[in-house]
Amino acid sequence: MQTTVVAAENSVPVEDEADVALCARSISAWYGTKLAIRDVSLDFRRHSISALMGPSGCGKTTFLRCLNRIHESALGASTTGEVLLDGTNIYDPGVNPVVTRRRIGMVFQRPNPFPTMSIFENVVSGPRYTGLSRNPRELKDLAEEALRQAALFDEVKDKLDDPALSLSGGQQQRLCIARALAVQPEVLLMDEPTSALDPLSTLKIEELMEQLATNYTVVIVTHNLQQAARVSNFAAFMLGDADRVGSVIEYAPTQQIFTHPNDRRTEDYITGRFG
Ligand SMILES: Nc1ncnc2c1ncn2[C@@H]1O[C@H](COP(=O)(O)OP(=O)(O)OP(=O)(O)O)[C@@H](O)[C@H]1O
Ligand SMILES: [Mg+2]
Repeated sequence: MQTTVVAAENSVPVEDEADVALCARSISAWYGTKLAIRDVSLDFRRHSISALMGPSGCGKTTFLRCLNRIHESALGASTTGEVLLDGTNIYDPGVNPVVTRRRIGMVFQRPNPFPTMSIFENVVSGPRYTGLSRNPRELKDLAEEALRQAALFDEVKDKLDDPALSLSGGQQQRLCIARALAVQPEVLLMDEPTSALDPLSTLKIEELMEQLATNYTVVIVTHNLQQAARVSNFAAFMLGDADRVGSVIEYAPTQQIFTHPNDRRTEDYITGRFG
């Protein structure tokens, strides 16, 4: 079902609705009876990088996981609100969450390659499982393309059958990015993708994010303010209230957030006064 896109209260103005790839509308999320985020509405512009920032526990991960329906897989977890992917609500009863998770891929904080699989098998696991392809020739091509996009191919092309765990941490994270890309998603969600990595691997992933944003809509969670300032086009600042329920305080082009934020609390956070 197509739903008309109406700009969110705290959305960044977009000239053309078609420029919005993903919009969250009034997302609230619970763990059992505990409300973790309240009424979060954000538009994510196509082929851009949006960063979610905020102190620990304010609900960044929870919100990110609502964007592709992974949140609901946690025990007792629930969500209200809508997430429109190209105008269709991914929470509509007729929408298959497996298809949604293929279209909206996710990369986690710690590299999590499937430990018993080879490098190659990790990359093609998604296309195989989702039925995108089971043809060996096609899978080989898909794997090469995904590994190239993840800037890993040259480092692994002669050892595709080696165990994934034989790679370094930074290579494993790029492998996880390749695995996410292999199912040809439209949106890539990344939850602190470099927090477990050394500075050189971090730099590689940041360069990679910028390249990926030419074809994908990227949403990252980061604690690293310099990283948000370096790589993102838009930035949202989230904060929890006294009951630790998170919401969005401000969302704007990154440069504006870092040079003249509208809200005092955003300014305090980015100048390191708390968080
Ligand atoms: N599995 C869970 N069960 C119960 N409560 C949870 C669970 N995961 C997170 N929470 C709670 O939900 C709130 C938001 O947590 P979330 O992990 O989304 O925060 P975050 O902003 O990503 O924090 P961090 O920066 O530390 O990763 C917190 O109060 C947290 O304690
Ligand atoms: Mg988190």
